[in-house]
Amino acid sequence: MPKDKTSNYSRLGYFLSEFGDEVFLIDASILFCKLCECKVNSDKKFNVTQHLKTEKHLKPIKREENKIEKKQQLLTNISQKSTFNIDLCKTLISTNIPLNKLSKVKFRQFLEKYTKNPIPDESTLRKLYVEDIYNETIEKIRNKVSNNRIWVSIDETTDVEKRFIANVIIGTLDIEHSGSILASMRS
Ligand SMILES: *[C@@H]1O[C@H](CO)[C@@H](O)[C@H](O)[C@H]1NC(C)=O
Ligand SMILES: *[C@@H]1O[C@H](CO)[C@@H](O)[C@H](O)[C@H]1NC(C)=O
Ligand SMILES: *[C@@H]1O[C@H](CO)[C@@H](O)[C@H](O)[C@H]1NC(C)=O
Ligand SMILES: *[C@@H]1O[C@H](CO)[C@@H](O)[C@H](O)[C@H]1NC(C)=O
Ligand SMILES: [Zn+2]
Repeated sequence: MPKDKTSNYSRLGYFLSEFGDEVFLIDASILFCKLCECKVNSDKKFNVTQHLKTEKHLKPIKREENKIEKKQQLLTNISQKSTFNIDLCKTLISTNIPLNKLSKVKFRQFLEKYTKNPIPDESTLRKLYVEDIYNETIEKIRNKVSNNRIWVSIDETTDVEKRFIANVIIGTLDIEHSGSILASMRS
């Protein structure tokens, strides 16, 4: 009997070193899969490799791989964002030039000729850049407002297409000196 027990342990130990102790652990001569949180039949190596191929076992691994892939994608997506596109997007927005002007051939050609940069599509800027810039701007405004009292002025009007437009302007109120105007926007 004792010999039997020793050989069981060494067999389980072999599985552990073969398949990794991040996957299996040995508990009272039972092979236990940490990922599936279940006992794995360990009579034969075949039984263990079979377990590794089960749907149940592969699912959490795939999920983990997906997570890692998403993370890497996000990193690549961020690093792929070009300074030129960020600056272009900021410039257009801050000067009230609609992003769709980028679809005008003359405007594109002018930018391309003198900046020597490929000019992004409007949709690229909308998908990848606008939100970043929006977040950055909101963050800046929050930091400036911090604990100051603010004033807000909203003025409603209609644009050329008879759409209702609200012009919003906000600033801080200071006792010592005149406050600063933080932002004005239309929506
Ligand atoms: C050793 O393993 C065999 C097969 O899995 C099992 O039948 C036996 O009970 C085990 N012996 C001990 C001492 O755990
Ligand atoms: C273990 O593998 C053997 C074949 O090597 C098979 O006959 C047996 O049914 C398997 N046991 C389990 C619990 O899967
Ligand atoms: C990365 O960019 C691609 C292409 O724009 C997009 O399909 C993917 O969802 C993005 N991934 C993440 C994690 O943002
Ligand atoms: C912008 O901020 C929101 C809210 O904090 C966040 O959910 C979103 O992921 C941010 N977007 C980018 C592109 O950083
Ligand atoms: Zn498993």
